[in-house]
Amino acid sequence: MINDLREFIEAARQLGQVKDIHGAHWELEIGALTELFAFKEPSPLVLFDQVPGYAPNFRVAANLINTPSRSSLTVGMPPDARPIELIAKWKELLKGVKPVPPRVVKDGPILENVKTGADVDMTIFPTPHWHELDGGRYIGTADCVITGEPEEGGWVNVGIYRVQIHDKNTLGLYVSPGHHARIMREKYWEQGKSCPVVVTFGQDPLLFLVAGQSMPYGLSEFDYYGGLRGAPIDVILGELTGLPIPATAEIAIEGEVPPPSAEMRMEGPFGEWPGYYAHGAAKEPVIRVKRVYYRNDPILCGAPPLKPPFVTFGVPIGAAAIWNYLEKADVPDIKGVWCAIGSSAAAGGAPFIIVSVKQRYHGHAQQAGLAALASRGGNYHGRFVIVVDDDIDPSDMKEVIWAVSTRCDPKSAITIIDGCWSTPLDPAMHPDQRDAGNFVNSRAVLNACRPYAWRDRFPPVNALSPELKQQISEKWKKELA
Ligand SMILES: Cc1cc2nc3c(=O)[nH]c(=O)nc-3n(C[C@H](O)[C@H](O)[C@H](O)COP(=O)(O)O)c2cc1C
Repeated sequence: MINDLREFIEAARQLGQVKDIHGAHWELEIGALTELFAFKEPSPLVLFDQVPGYAPNFRVAANLINTPSRSSLTVGMPPDARPIELIAKWKELLKGVKPVPPRVVKDGPILENVKTGADVDMTIFPTPHWHELDGGRYIGTADCVITGEPEEGGWVNVGIYRVQIHDKNTLGLYVSPGHHARIMREKYWEQGKSCPVVVTFGQDPLLFLVAGQSMPYGLSEFDYYGGLRGAPIDVILGELTGLPIPATAEIAIEGEVPPPSAEMRMEGPFGEWPGYYAHGAAKEPVIRVKRVYYRNDPILCGAPPLKPPFVTFGVPIGAAAIWNYLEKADVPDIKGVWCAIGSSAAAGGAPFIIVSVKQRYHGHAQQAGLAALASRGGNYHGRFVIVVDDDIDPSDMKEVIWAVSTRCDPKSAITIIDGCWSTPLDPAMHPDQRDAGNFVNSRAVLNACRPYAWRDRFPPVNALSPELKQQISEKWKKELA
């Protein structure tokens, strides 16, 4: 079992998957190298040290789990399967989790350095300027933002939300509409209070992965993480907020998010996962940092969003959440779910969902498409849902495009739905609509299955049958080798 970031990096090193880079500058060099290494085959975890202008042992780790092999490593799962089989494994894993609550401890490496009040200085960390048009330096890209529900039993949410450095003790925090930390902080503000918050900026990559998955409101990602690893997370209760701080985190802060009437600052632009700086710069809430904690030789984690086909978690784990939802919604015979763009995180945005179904009755394919859209993971920041027959591997885009091109009649097999849950990050949202705060968009469900009513008369596929393929391959083995 991996207990923290350092053990994870060591495990990746044992697999020959770590690249050490000395002396890259925080101003665009770390960001550019992160992007170049992200698209290299194989793509290593990159560990930057000796960043000019910073303590040489203050490091940055990027591309933590952007390959199927390293996201599998977080849970000790063998990575040697086809992409859709990996999603099927994640589906089973996520479905079977029995939550295990955190264990409160008194001590841990995160207490090695503690600075309060006037000693707080967030600028001591080598925070990169990641993308060329970013409006500032983002310390929170692979972070865990921890907030408590003020009304419903005080359960604790953990989410990944981007965090910009404004100055020594002020950070910017962007949380999209509908995300749980946003709901919680609004409840505090309605009571006229600031929202207490803890943020970690380096932690076990599995906790980062879990923070990106949308849990039902009321289920703490800490408990889910404990369930996934079969052991509780050790946490120290923050003196100022009462919130749990993972004891082996690399860097953590305690602070508060004041109501917008008290303070807002310009945040962004920031290069986001759809591949654009769509949100531009806007006034967003801030975190007033009251205390900072860090381990000796701290490692700041970075996961800057990169233009697709980059997938932050190596495979679109959000597809596993949609698949589980379809099963819960009693849509029978789902053979696979895939998300071609984004969707590392359930409810992190899934604009291109593919569902493969073994059609059993009239309307079954349409039901699967609509249900995928109804789920939390499939609804947020969506655009297209493609439903294909079970002979199509939904993770193989060539197959999917073939199915759409040959089985989907645009006039009769495309359904448009309007007024759906979107976000200011949507690049295709008209700027006036964004300025008006009307964060909705439309969806299309493409039924690319053989029409059920006349499926028996649909022409046969002219590819080799598996039997003939086997027979000929056997007979002509030498020639085919
Ligand atoms: C690398 C990464 C960065 C993310 N950044 C943000 C962000 O800046 N703001 C946001 O609202 N969601 C962001 N998300 C998506 C949320 O973390 C994700 O949807 C999560 O499930 C939200 O949790 P919640 O449902 O508890 O709010 C990000 C996801 C990932 C994987």
